[in-house]
Amino acid sequence: MTLTRKDFPNNFLFGAATAAYQIEGSQFGGAGPSHWDTFSATPGNVTRAETGAIACDHYHRFEQDFDLLKTGNFDAYRFSTSWSRVLPEGRGQVNQQGLDYYDRLTDALLERGIKPFQTLYHWEMPAALSDLGGWTNPDVHNWFGDFVDIIDDRIGDRMEAIATINEPWCASFLSHFHGIHAPGLRDVRAAARSMHYVLKAHGEAMTRLRAKGRKNLGIALNFEYAQPATASPNDVRAAATEDAVYNRWFIEAMTKGTYPAEALEGLEAHLPKGWQDDLKTHIHQPLDWLGVNYYTRKIHAHDPNASAWPYTKPAEGHLATTQMGWEVYPEGLHHFLKRMKNDYVGDLPILVTENGMAWEDHLKDGAADDPERIDFIQGHLAAMKRAIDEGVNLQGFMYWSLLDNYEWAEGYDKRFGIVHVDFDTLERTPKASYYMLKHALKRD
Ligand code: FCB
Repeated sequence: MTLTRKDFPNNFLFGAATAAYQIEGSQFGGAGPSHWDTFSATPGNVTRAETGAIACDHYHRFEQDFDLLKTGNFDAYRFSTSWSRVLPEGRGQVNQQGLDYYDRLTDALLERGIKPFQTLYHWEMPAALSDLGGWTNPDVHNWFGDFVDIIDDRIGDRMEAIATINEPWCASFLSHFHGIHAPGLRDVRAAARSMHYVLKAHGEAMTRLRAKGRKNLGIALNFEYAQPATASPNDVRAAATEDAVYNRWFIEAMTKGTYPAEALEGLEAHLPKGWQDDLKTHIHQPLDWLGVNYYTRKIHAHDPNASAWPYTKPAEGHLATTQMGWEVYPEGLHHFLKRMKNDYVGDLPILVTENGMAWEDHLKDGAADDPERIDFIQGHLAAMKRAIDEGVNLQGFMYWSLLDNYEWAEGYDKRFGIVHVDFDTLERTPKASYYMLKHALKRD
């Protein structure tokens, strides 16, 4: 059975998501360098050292891309506004071209009847601020707050909703402990500080936007189902540690004003002095909605050879995987939607702000057939519907992503789009999954 718009509540929003660095082309329009421009230019960090310099050239082609949203019957579009495009040095001199661009982009969405969902930080830390420690600098919340004021003064009045930060776990732990994303650090102190300061910056942005009367403020958190490799107490504990760091740290801080004990075990010694006060003054404050990004599950085992916390290692799974090697596990999405309601946000509106899959899509006779993605989307729509039927106040779903794009450390290899992009010609070709959604979302 194919789920369609009719299977969801009347006002449920269907959208597609993107992020600035992944599609715009950072070399256009006077943007300053971000830590992704420099991280990617360093051999070994990104497949073939590919960068977002041109990406999908969305900077020049957004009208065409938004036509695809409109023809595809989408209601909403989630995008991010790049800090380094608006403030090339991170602070000080504003790049007017950058503000003008986001202004045109906003109007282009509204002209097509598409609701704009803005994300204020989807990973373009300006390189000049990265030089000063980026997310580990105790002033970063003020720098971010100033950027937020500037971009909001220009387009905030026309946003349907605003998210402060995209995936704080990736911006902090993945980037400062695992070293997989920019700035590529592997340092527990940097990890702890960035995990705390990214939340403080979220709080600062909320406070500033509230002061300006903005009412539809949230954040996009990512969740990954943490499954113990076996029922042994050690493996169960390993999964609980990973769950605390990944899935509980951020939501618990914002909704309860605490950090989970299993994560503090490894991180507390490295947090900045006065962190408990920041939880009270900045971090623990109401949200208007919560964004859930969900892709997969991971299996965790105790690592007997580990010399330091968190004493965990990944184990092999048994489910079908995507081009990323990620297991397809829609039950995990249902799990997190229920868990958010029951443990953290109650009836607060929830949006699935990202969900999607990468596949090695090829054009054949001018078309891209992607039955795997169609199944993936339908499987996850079913998980969302089940959560709604069980009382979760889920109000929308944004597919990741509208276009094949720059997939961070994976470069251009991994294709998440419902629209195929030829990275030589930049030609766009809607895939079969785009047409499936177009039909499913038709209003009659
Ligand atoms: C998420 C990111 C997004 C994209 C998808 C595949 O972690 O928010 O930019 O890369 O994963």
